[in-house]
Amino acid sequence: MRTKSLLLAACLSFAATPHAFAQGVTGSGVVPATAANSAERTIRFAAQAPAGAALVIVMTDATLPPLDGVALGAAERQAIAAAVAAGEFDGKAGATLSLRGIGAYPRILLVGTGATPTSLALAEAGGKAAQELKGEARAIAVAGAFGDASAADVAYGFALGQYRFDRYKTVDRKTPPTGTVTLVGANPAAAAAAFAGRWQPLADGVRLSRDLANEPANVIYPESFVARVREAFAGTAGVTIEVLDETAMRRLGMGTLVGVGQGSPRGSRLLAVRYRGAGSDAAPLAFVGKGITFDSGGISLKPGAGMWDMKGDMSGAASTMGAVLSLAKSRAPVHVVAVAALAENMPGGNAQRPGDVVRTMSGKTIEMLNSDAEGRLVLADANEYVADKYKPRAIVNIATLTGSIVGALDSQYAGLFSRDDALAAQLLAAGTASGEELWRMPLHKNYAKKIESDIADVRNIAPGAGPGASIGAHFIGYFVAETTPWAHLDIAGVNQADTALPLVPKGMSGFGVRLLDQLAREGE
Ligand code: BES
Ligand code: ZN
Ligand code: MN
Repeated sequence: MRTKSLLLAACLSFAATPHAFAQGVTGSGVVPATAANSAERTIRFAAQAPAGAALVIVMTDATLPPLDGVALGAAERQAIAAAVAAGEFDGKAGATLSLRGIGAYPRILLVGTGATPTSLALAEAGGKAAQELKGEARAIAVAGAFGDASAADVAYGFALGQYRFDRYKTVDRKTPPTGTVTLVGANPAAAAAAFAGRWQPLADGVRLSRDLANEPANVIYPESFVARVREAFAGTAGVTIEVLDETAMRRLGMGTLVGVGQGSPRGSRLLAVRYRGAGSDAAPLAFVGKGITFDSGGISLKPGAGMWDMKGDMSGAASTMGAVLSLAKSRAPVHVVAVAALAENMPGGNAQRPGDVVRTMSGKTIEMLNSDAEGRLVLADANEYVADKYKPRAIVNIATLTGSIVGALDSQYAGLFSRDDALAAQLLAAGTASGEELWRMPLHKNYAKKIESDIADVRNIAPGAGPGASIGAHFIGYFVAETTPWAHLDIAGVNQADTALPLVPKGMSGFGVRLLDQLAREGE
């Protein structure tokens, strides 16, 4: 009986869906090469490890688990045990040991999870395996100390860990590892269903966010960001997409979102993607992301060193889109709206000048003293719009807002700012569960003094040294009604990985997709 259902269920596979390339000529020349990223390994679930594969064994300690579906005899198990002892592999989280020449598997990689293999620890083991075996030409089989439900967690980690952005390499592009990764377990159908229901859509959302952020700014600008997102959501049920161009935004009085973009020939956009799952009639949870497709600083020009990094200044917006893509593709019973405040901050002849006074959609005025403090400006209008139009039950901002948060928290945590303890607690918990961790930072009402302006309602910077990340957060909060549960996540330190982590290859991280996905699921 059992064997029969296993055979029927063999070979449930998931291939990544590469998106078509948005082509075109932009203001600064012809868009580069039109290749797609290298194909990723297809993820499948089966009862038997394929012969000749590289074998990954996930372990909670130094003891080899029973490995059903894997062809290892007593002698081979003994050889692995001896290697474990000699190689000082302890099975702790992050530990690996690579072995060759044992039995029918040309390569065996042991990966540790530690004694309590949480969903996250299992995912990290999968991610670690993906990265260690990046150049491995063979098919990969993954077996070990996980049940059928947990096989999906390992697969999810593998999906995140195998990401790469290589579409513009025309010379020396590493040969893509062809073929498959097979998660070995007794009930592959159950594992495949768990993966398809939650983790595959989440990995798709993270991929969307990483792709958008990794793309250079001559490819992704407000209009093409919108096109890419439309493409990603095409055919997804329950989704409505709304786009405001500059004419529409001017009509609504969005002086900051239009103003930040006016030094660039590329117009600003406001993109709102709403997903309403079946049976969810609550007010939506709103994610509002900073979408500066390039931040030169504007007339308050940034120094040249590292300025290229600012192609990723739309990471917050990208992650709001990724989170909603995940929720929609998995048909989660939630109601969410993602808003991207899209503009290119450039020092063109029509750019805003320091000292200009601009009016937001709320009617409040800002003395714009530094054009490089632009994220808070675009978020003021985007928050007003989402509050007005969607009447959300809470607003979560996500933004690469300040260099100050990098100094405070580096790449370990994103900064969390909120006046609402309940929302803050939910976010902290979602951070722990998802592995995208937050640290709560101060948001004192007395910071109001620091942004008082002599000639307008507020100014966009506080001159001199000070708690820069908190000042930025306070400024955004000034435009949000006290009665609306609101939080702001400053992700300037975590939106890219300088060195690879198990679930985050080097490059743009897609930080926030997993966190916001988790938050939405827990809140309903
Ligand atoms: N996008 C930057 C913040 C940033 C800095 C992100 C480093 C990632 C890495 C933001 O728009 C900015 O320029 N902030 C200024 C604010 C200042 C002018 C008040 C900053 O942090 O220096
Ligand atoms: Zn910026
Ligand atoms: Mn800036």
